[in-house]
Amino acid sequence: MTPPNKPFRFRKDSTAGVVAPLASGGRMDDTGMFLHSVEALRLHVDRRLAELIPSPGEEPGRLGEAAHYALLAPGKRFRPLLTLLTAEAFGSPIARALDVACSMEMVHAASLVLDDLPSMDDARLRRGRPTTHRVYGEADAILASVGLLTRAFGVIAAADCLPADHRSELVMSLAEAVGFHGLVAGQALDLAERNRARTVAELDALNHRKTGVLMMAAAEAGALIGGADPAARRELGEFARRIGLAFQIRDDLIDVDGGDHVGKDIGKDAGMTTVVSALGPRAAVAAIEAHLDAADAALARAGCDGRLGVFARSLFSGRKAAA
Ligand code: IPE
Ligand code: IPE
Ligand code: MG
Ligand code: MG
Ligand code: MG
Repeated sequence: MTPPNKPFRFRKDSTAGVVAPLASGGRMDDTGMFLHSVEALRLHVDRRLAELIPSPGEEPGRLGEAAHYALLAPGKRFRPLLTLLTAEAFGSPIARALDVACSMEMVHAASLVLDDLPSMDDARLRRGRPTTHRVYGEADAILASVGLLTRAFGVIAAADCLPADHRSELVMSLAEAVGFHGLVAGQALDLAERNRARTVAELDALNHRKTGVLMMAAAEAGALIGGADPAARRELGEFARRIGLAFQIRDDLIDVDGGDHVGKDIGKDAGMTTVVSALGPRAAVAAIEAHLDAADAALARAGCDGRLGVFARSLFSGRKAAA
């Protein structure tokens, strides 16, 4: 049986938030220390993700294995970390936000499985491994994706460390983010008339739906759990919207020049209009910078310290980091 969504407690030997000296003997600066603690948080997310889905043997055939394979493959866990760090920024204990954070990763992993299918991007490699459908077949990949997506909503509904009205608001906003006005619609738009010229405004709208809305949902969830007031929540949403736009442009740059080490197929956008193909790589990099600056400004208006911005920017500092 999958354990019920008991509020997560860090174990006594938890390293979250604990600062370790550098192996070189030097000491980290504040940014290094913070990013080190984020790494530890990532491990807690992974541990909880594994607890929140059925163990492989419980599901018929290879369904459970496929779900584990897709969910627990080594990804950046950006969306759940966004939820956790936002909740923390507004004063919530990390543990209160953990299950909701995991639900964001479940939705994301489900979307990646679908995105890679032969009828979509027809990808061979994801997170450094063969794509889920190549290992488990299309049927189990699709079923695993639907299972993960569904479980995400169940996990939020059962997060009884949160008040009932917050849980229902979180379910509603995640449903909006994923559904016919959100990610699913964005993916449909992405696939429709791929080669048609699109204006930058159209591309921003597409990127927002396929990538940005889930990031907004993740950040706004953290803000709600942290008790942010409505104005601060809106600013957090704007922060995440800008990060989402920058993130997808970065991803599109990687598709063009990422090399073999990014852990997923490259060249999949050939012939498709993206911000990179529309503006050229230099202007695309400038657009990323502009979005990141706007994201920082939104954070400042929300009254957050700079750590969320440091975390978000860390994704953009190395090619591998964004793949
Ligand atoms: C990939 O997302 C899909 C996009 C929205 C570009 P990530 O780059 O966050 O993928 P993982 O989770 O680290 O594998
Ligand atoms: C996909 O965008 C966004 C999703 C909602 C999964 P891409 O198709 O560019 O993502 P990658 O490059 O395959 O990760
Ligand atoms: Mg795609
Ligand atoms: Mg793809
Ligand atoms: Mg891509």
